[in-house]
Amino acid sequence: MARRTIVSMPGDGIGKTVLDEAIRVLEAAGFEADYVHADIGWEFWIREGNALPDRTIALLQEHKIGLFGAITSKPKKQAAEEISPELRDKGFVYASPIVKLRQHFNLDVSIRPCRSFAGNPLNFVRRGGDGIDEPAVDAVIFRQNTEGLYGGVEWTNPPANVRDALETHPRMSLFKEVPSEDLAISTRIFSRGACRRIVREAFAYAKKFGYKSVTVCEKPNVIRETSGMMTAEAHAASKDFPDIALWETNIDAQMMWLTKNPEDYGVLVCGNMFGDIVSDGFAGLIGGLGFACSANIGKEVAVFEPTHGSAPKYQELSPSIVNPIAMMMSACMMLDHIGESEKADRVREAIAKVVSEGKVRTYDMLRLTGSQDVLQNGAVNTQQMADAVISKL
Ligand code: NAI
Ligand code: MG
Repeated sequence: MARRTIVSMPGDGIGKTVLDEAIRVLEAAGFEADYVHADIGWEFWIREGNALPDRTIALLQEHKIGLFGAITSKPKKQAAEEISPELRDKGFVYASPIVKLRQHFNLDVSIRPCRSFAGNPLNFVRRGGDGIDEPAVDAVIFRQNTEGLYGGVEWTNPPANVRDALETHPRMSLFKEVPSEDLAISTRIFSRGACRRIVREAFAYAKKFGYKSVTVCEKPNVIRETSGMMTAEAHAASKDFPDIALWETNIDAQMMWLTKNPEDYGVLVCGNMFGDIVSDGFAGLIGGLGFACSANIGKEVAVFEPTHGSAPKYQELSPSIVNPIAMMMSACMMLDHIGESEKADRVREAIAKVVSEGKVRTYDMLRLTGSQDVLQNGAVNTQQMADAVISKL
């Protein structure tokens, strides 16, 4: 196989630490690639007024595959205050670079597997018939990644033509007396093509990996149009996958059931916001942010990232204490995507061994409060966790 070039986007804070460690693990697994660094994140907002510089987009366009650590995002006001003085009030508006990346390359399929590792002390447990049950969770969330509430079509104080158009809907009567400057509107726009693609990808994945069910998790009883479209497309897709059951849940009930019978769920598929919520919910059952991995997949470009952020409160700690497993698992998803599943499986098995042996644990796995002291209280640092995985390879 031709040697690959991977675009490495460490970003901010702990993104930098975990990405380096994941690359070390990939190399130890025998994955040979060239890594080209690409700029992304807060420092580029401050310096250039753009957290996702064009040169980074060009590198991804060229090489197609990206590994991303995490970025720091801050609210509008703070972003405007922190931008360098010479760029201030020049019309730069902060936008999350990862959201921009997903939209620019139409990385519309987000996959977030949540599988428990045996022996992880953070695994979900529940009271069973005669003692404590620890159900093995193996849920894979397919999240539509570009549209819906993250589409960015929103206003505070909507312009008159927008307001006029909305007023044509009878239900706007509820807001008739509200002055426009007191109206905030965030739209939830779904397109049929994107709904169709995400549900089909979900079914195809379920078939490929032997899952018995696909659950479409929306709320069509209330959010009739958008959730209704996603659910209808799920029904249409299910006709081509007769061996896989289609289940329907509402997002609110799903969050309640999550801790009742998580082992019953296989593949789940949702719009953008609900996918974000459900995937965090399931991630909480398998160890939380230190374990939650994800893929953003488009037709041409794909970017792999842990779901956690830049954890600014830990970024100054040296050595770093955060758990690199989520980043390593995301790197494994990259290997799967480029046809290197054998190496991905070896890395996952190595992680599984380290977790089940229980000798090497980062602070989160010991339920310690994060600080440098954790290293005196039995936790390993980020690099030591990676070393442990490498030793199993
Ligand atoms: P966060 O995910 O950075 O951290 C939340 C907490 O989770 C941390 O304080 C830490 O206790 C724990 N944590 C996170 N990653 C961990 C790891 N690998 N190992 C062990 N513990 C870990 O989320 P937060 O604090 O809400 O946001 C911090 C910054 O990150 C913000 O600027 C936010 O906008 C950004 N963010 C970026 C994301 C991305 O790059 N995709 C996703 C989420 C947040
Ligand atoms: Mg999230």
